[in-house]
Amino acid sequence: MRLQAPATLTAVKNIVILASGRGSNMQAIVQAAEREQWPARVACVVANRPDAQVLPAARALGVPAVLVDHTAYPSRDAFDEALAAQIDAHQPALVLLAGFMRVLSDAFVQRYDGRLMNIHPSLLPSFPGLKAHERALQAGVKVHGATVHFVTSQLDHGPIVAQAAVPVQPDDTPPTLAARVQQAEHRLYPLAAGWFVRDLLRIEQGIVRVQGNPAQLI
Ligand code: GRF
Repeated sequence: MRLQAPATLTAVKNIVILASGRGSNMQAIVQAAEREQWPARVACVVANRPDAQVLPAARALGVPAVLVDHTAYPSRDAFDEALAAQIDAHQPALVLLAGFMRVLSDAFVQRYDGRLMNIHPSLLPSFPGLKAHERALQAGVKVHGATVHFVTSQLDHGPIVAQAAVPVQPDDTPPTLAARVQQAEHRLYPLAAGWFVRDLLRIEQGIVRVQGNPAQLI
């Protein structure tokens, strides 16, 4: 009896998404990975709050979702270790912060150096930190947006992968501006993650270079 040759093994990269809230970016990434047939899949979603809507949202998409409740740990380091254990179980090529509302320890950031991305709702380096939309409106900027960047130990800094700009309208409030930025985020984050899993990103002297003609991949 002849043994059948094994099917060609294409290594599918794992992505782990960390989130605390609604999970609309998670959803955009899961759907883009399927629609665009990335050489990667979202293997797991981890939330730090039991009421995070991202947990049922992920499960509804068929993605395993786990809770690592930060209030159950005595210190930031203990929480980060538990979080890392969940992440490492999937040996991810890429870890994505998508509205993950916890500051991560330096050790955690180091552990995922070069494969940890975040999305921030402003055109960095403007308006890092909380309440970016409010502060953008107070500053009177006419263009606002979102940034995907690699994570370093400095909050909302790190090499910029991609940015999307949106106009600020005269009658905008923080919620109306946030909604417009979020629409852009849902295109931007999948774009950046898709580049990464296709090995199109290089960091040269702190600057992210995208290889080829990435626009053709959208
Ligand atoms: C996004 O606006 C992102 O920029 C910020 O947190 C929000 C997460 O939204 N970091 P969602 O949970 O993906 O809907």
